[in-house]
Amino acid sequence: MTVRHFLTLLDIKHDALWKILRRGTELKKMQTELKLYEPLKNRILGMIFEKSSTRTRVSFESAMIQMGGGSIFLSPRDSQLGRGEPLEDTARVLSSMVDVIAIRTYEHNKLERFAAFSEVPVINALTNEYHPCQLLADMQTYQEYRGDIRGRRVAWVGDGNNMCHSYINAARIFGFDLHIACPEGFEPDPGILAQGGARATLHRDPVAAVQGADLVVTDVWASMGQEEEQQERLALFAPYQVNATLLSHGKPDTLFMHCLPAHRGEEVTTEVLEGPQSAVWEEARNRLYAQKALLEYLLV
Ligand code: CP
Ligand code: NVA
Repeated sequence: MTVRHFLTLLDIKHDALWKILRRGTELKKMQTELKLYEPLKNRILGMIFEKSSTRTRVSFESAMIQMGGGSIFLSPRDSQLGRGEPLEDTARVLSSMVDVIAIRTYEHNKLERFAAFSEVPVINALTNEYHPCQLLADMQTYQEYRGDIRGRRVAWVGDGNNMCHSYINAARIFGFDLHIACPEGFEPDPGILAQGGARATLHRDPVAAVQGADLVVTDVWASMGQEEEQQERLALFAPYQVNATLLSHGKPDTLFMHCLPAHRGEEVTTEVLEGPQSAVWEEARNRLYAQKALLEYLLV
């Protein structure tokens, strides 16, 4: 039997993804009512994280505990991966002992190599190229606040990074129009953008991207692994800050999202992040429920 992985959003059929979003909201309601739901009793999630994480790690660990299972967290520092054991060997051994594996790493290709040798589902917990778990939470959050995102207009402002790539995939799958504004030289990968077809449009001017938007999204200007570029990027990205003036070009009820962590005063002002249009705290909370729905889909 082929193993079901979640390396990008494109790995799961559209109707199943829509179900996962709705299920996330149901699982949130069940948890609020303190209903015991333990379909993952004795099941184990292995986690290999080569980059820092607060939300992704805690949401996966909490999800496993709430669903009756458990998790094992490995950083390269305390596993043999950090001493050069090949990914392919680690994949075979780890997947013979746990039921599902979440990986946060650098090159997406490392995740694909691991998945090719894994007996159990592998989940992308962020790579340099994609962050699909965050998109599940973002889409669930939009649905909870505003209903169906199909046919809506979404603005991505800032770096054409891993989050932007996952938004391009989401635009294809969930049927919204994505307007991306990036500084020159920081556009999304041309191949991924091309796959977005008519759903993804590139702009230079952030106002053009935000015009009439139902949802405005941004992310840090320097992602993990790009810390040395931080200073140089500050000046180049300054016109792409999401502030009250830029947000005012969206629809009057436009929502603001950010995967967090945020750098206040850089990609977003405190006024917008903490303002009435910001959905960021619910978006972060929904990481837990979207991933519970994902784990249920992959394992139950
Ligand atoms: N948004 C997100 O993935 O956060 P962490 O880096 O804290 O996991
Ligand atoms: N683009 C950011 C997202 C962090 C959750 C990064 O890769 O660092």
